[in-house]
Amino acid sequence: MCGIVGAIAQRPVTEILLEGLRRLEYRGYDSAGLAVISADNLLMRERALGKVAELEKKLENSSLAGTLGIAHTRWATHGEPAERNAHPHVSANRIAVVHNGIIENYEELRESLQAEGYVFESDTDTEVIVHLIEKAESQGIELLEAVMSVRKKLRGAYALGVISNDEPDSLIVARHGSPLVIGLGLGENFIGSDIQAMLPVTSRFIYLENGDTAQLSRHEINIYDENGDAVKREIQQSTASMCASDLGEYRHYMHKEIFEQPQAIQATLDSRLTGESFINCIVGETSEGVAAKDILAQVEEIQIIACGTSYHAGLIARYWIESLTEVPCNVEVASEYRYRRQPPKKNMLVITLSQSGETADTLAALDKVKQDGCLATLTICNVPESSLTRESDFSLMTIAGPEIGVASTKAFTTQLVALQLLLGQLLQAKQADDKLIIELISGLKQLPVIVEQVLEHDKAIEKMAEDFIEKNNALFLGRGEQYPVAMEGALKLKEISYIHAEAYPAGELKHGPLALVDSEMPIITVAPNTSLLEKLKSNLEEVRSRGGMLYVFADKAAEIKQQDNIYVIEMPAVPESIAAIVYSVPLQLLSYYTAVFKGTDVDKPRNLAKSVTVE
Ligand code: G6P
Repeated sequence: MCGIVGAIAQRPVTEILLEGLRRLEYRGYDSAGLAVISADNLLMRERALGKVAELEKKLENSSLAGTLGIAHTRWATHGEPAERNAHPHVSANRIAVVHNGIIENYEELRESLQAEGYVFESDTDTEVIVHLIEKAESQGIELLEAVMSVRKKLRGAYALGVISNDEPDSLIVARHGSPLVIGLGLGENFIGSDIQAMLPVTSRFIYLENGDTAQLSRHEINIYDENGDAVKREIQQSTASMCASDLGEYRHYMHKEIFEQPQAIQATLDSRLTGESFINCIVGETSEGVAAKDILAQVEEIQIIACGTSYHAGLIARYWIESLTEVPCNVEVASEYRYRRQPPKKNMLVITLSQSGETADTLAALDKVKQDGCLATLTICNVPESSLTRESDFSLMTIAGPEIGVASTKAFTTQLVALQLLLGQLLQAKQADDKLIIELISGLKQLPVIVEQVLEHDKAIEKMAEDFIEKNNALFLGRGEQYPVAMEGALKLKEISYIHAEAYPAGELKHGPLALVDSEMPIITVAPNTSLLEKLKSNLEEVRSRGGMLYVFADKAAEIKQQDNIYVIEMPAVPESIAAIVYSVPLQLLSYYTAVFKGTDVDKPRNLAKSVTVE
């Protein structure tokens, strides 16, 4: 994980690097650091434990300045969060390296470097890289060549930025697995883990490919492929915008993003359906030139792969797909899928779901799928220029806008909307009954307004959250597609309030979790008016009769009345097709307010990151 930024310019780069780090903090924020080559060719470095703001404070009292520099915000993998483990790592006081990724063979490299007299200051895997480069360079070769030779010794994933005070006109970068983008300026050039880091200074980018090494000067960029041959990579003009980070009236991005859901859902729907049909919104074609419509007509099986919240969106979609089509659908977390052998399935459509499009496990699973062979690959993603969109045959974009809070909210509900758009197109391609298609469209069209209505319960849910301040555990229950809604509710509560929360299919309660139920255990459930409502109500009785305290978000028609040990918030009536989307929203608010009451860092919860670009 971690975020990298770098600059080679004719002006001081410290502020550019700091702004880049602030924009990359979603990738990790347990420590940060920055190194520059000063006007008198000294390597200067500053590092701080904690968020980028801590580094900024330190820099206010520092003489560090230069026109060539690299910087890093860290999410610890090897070595605890501590200043000595923060990047950049330095060798012989003259070479500095920032790294995103994991070096798998670092232990053996470290031992052999130590045997040669190199002293390690950190517990990181990264430090071997900088000493190896120093060793190669001190044998008389240039920095570029030194980096290329060191690459041959590294196993694992990495994006690297390297500077040396011997070469004040050179910023070297290398990519294998982890993402790295070059930003092109006039008389200045930049590097970053993503384009967001560089949007304040440029809108022209080159995406490095795996195996690429590049040398940036102020006026030139030279790129070499894994064989060391000079290559040209396409320059892309980005239309991404810089804004989105204004909190406005909100205290936290998460709250703001929860309230942006009606607009984000509307934007994801706009121009993608008429009153009676779904308009094609899937971009791309297979390598044989086959269009999405034809792939959907042929598909006999669907595999969804994702991580975290995106995985929960996939689990909900399986209920939808299998209830309305004859196409079987499997859903699996990417970290498992990538290592599991499966027979190749020639008529399988593989869908990756990802807010960021950069999640390492999901990318690796996509890679595996491509090697195994399948009908086509499609990603549902929120970032148009991301690795997943570039590496899949097809993409269907969610239009959530940038999501800053680490706990995903609007990205999740727009993923669900995109999955319904895909389902609609699948139904059309399979020539399903028009009635099904029209029902689906009718639900989607009502969705933004219904979510608005749910958001009106904000204050009531804040009140409910007061009950959770002293709790250490919580159980979430759901049936049918509301079971993954409950899973997502439990994940949200864990992520930001640090309360241990588990989700169970309500019917499974009697097979174990019922033993946990007493007056101290809050049980949260969602009860839309669906075909499984009566079954759910029986399960809730099982809880009540054992003294459990129930918190229920229920459709009026469910007739679940507020009483001593049942706290009910009444939800608007919703069509069954969109119930899972609508009922996800109050659970987001419940977690949000619980975390606010507990005083946690809501937008940047401990130990987590928005985009996990390491395995
Ligand atoms: C991290 C984030 C989660 C997110 C997951 C998958 O763990 O904290 O909020 O759901 O990554 O991310 P993706 O970008 O692939 O959806």
